[in-house]
Amino acid sequence: MTNVLVTGGAGFIGSHIVDELVSEGYDVTVVDNLTEQVHDGEPEYLSDEAEYVWGDVRDRELMTELLEDADVLNHQASAVGVGQSMYEIEKYVEVNTLATARILDIIANENIDLEKVVVASSMSIYGEGAYRCPDENELHYPPLRGEGQMKEGQWEHLCPECGTELEPIATPESKPRESTSVYAISKKDQEELTLSVCRAYGIPAVALRYFNIYGSRQSLDNPYTGVCAIFSSRIKNDNPPLIFEDGDQTRDFIHVSDVARANKLAMESDASNVAVNIGSGNPKTIRGIAQTLIELYGKEDELEPEIADDFRQGDIRHCFADTELAAEELGFETEVSFEDGMRELVKWGRKQDAEDRFKEAHAELEEKGLVGED
Ligand SMILES: NC(=O)c1ccc[n+]([C@@H]2O[C@H](COP(=O)([O-])OP(=O)(O)OC[C@H]3O[C@@H](n4cnc5c(N)ncnc54)[C@H](O)[C@@H]3O)[C@@H](O)[C@H]2O)c1
Repeated sequence: MTNVLVTGGAGFIGSHIVDELVSEGYDVTVVDNLTEQVHDGEPEYLSDEAEYVWGDVRDRELMTELLEDADVLNHQASAVGVGQSMYEIEKYVEVNTLATARILDIIANENIDLEKVVVASSMSIYGEGAYRCPDENELHYPPLRGEGQMKEGQWEHLCPECGTELEPIATPESKPRESTSVYAISKKDQEELTLSVCRAYGIPAVALRYFNIYGSRQSLDNPYTGVCAIFSSRIKNDNPPLIFEDGDQTRDFIHVSDVARANKLAMESDASNVAVNIGSGNPKTIRGIAQTLIELYGKEDELEPEIADDFRQGDIRHCFADTELAAEELGFETEVSFEDGMRELVKWGRKQDAEDRFKEAHAELEEKGLVGED
């Protein structure tokens, strides 16, 4: 039976991948160090049918042992948090870049025979998404907005030639990457290291560039990741979701069960040495997300999204996935609608205790000078 080693398999996405794989009859081993920022001990949702090893992906000896028994590596373990990565720089590079390098070094030097490697990458490696000038019908890949522009509250990108507001379009994998945070750089490293080493050793590898993933099991206590989880935590504690800029910035939200299926398809498909977007292809505004969650939690009479008078340095304005390559390479299309997915998240969220630590995390960013006022 195929033995799949899932790193980070106790986490939000990893645990859904584990469930998907065991339900398809795979033999699954998980390695996870139950990072304190994410977990309060062993989560109750772990699968009875997988084997769990509580250890660190940075541990060479442990990873050598586990890789010797694996047929497939599914690498999800990472430190996750864009803002936090800008002041916990060493940790992000160590857990993401260096641990991945070490795993690949083991594969290259210890006679490890793998049938496939799947690695979790991220849309954050694009920086801004792709845009089009409606007047000149030209494609644009703008850089991050400058501080001067943000301070004036000019949130949208303007065409450098004619000054017209640019329109966001679907971002293809071919868009030049512009990693604008330490987290994004470390995800790019994980992707590029994996694809290049696996190519050299003839191991088929696929990098999945996840867009914004939401759904059950996302840590509601971790204020550094996932806007849906952060807003859920605020709403459950009767606090309004706090929105940077004007709330009309958009992201591409995809339900975690679709992402788990994309991982299974990546493993089973003939796709090799390729990075593909895993998103819905449908942009949603951040204000709309806040509003939807308030309504689903039944708090529309008490709460409304609060527009903060500030912005976060390094934030992009719009990015949503071009989904063609995922369909072509993996035969992947989303199955869960946004409405059904959000209902699933809230149904689960209602049963969770959630400590709202948003203000604390925001204060840390402010202290480091990573938040500006418009
Ligand atoms: N959630 C998203 O929207 C999103 C978007 C893009 C990419 N990703 C990527 O998806 C992957 C999974 O993210 P997630 O949202 O499930 O996060 P998560 O924090 O819920 O899961 C990560 C898991 O990895 C474990 N881990 C962290 N450091 C480890 C270490 N040194 N050794 C062993 N285990 C360790 C954690 O304990 C956790 O269980 C990550 O690679 C992340 O970069 C997530």
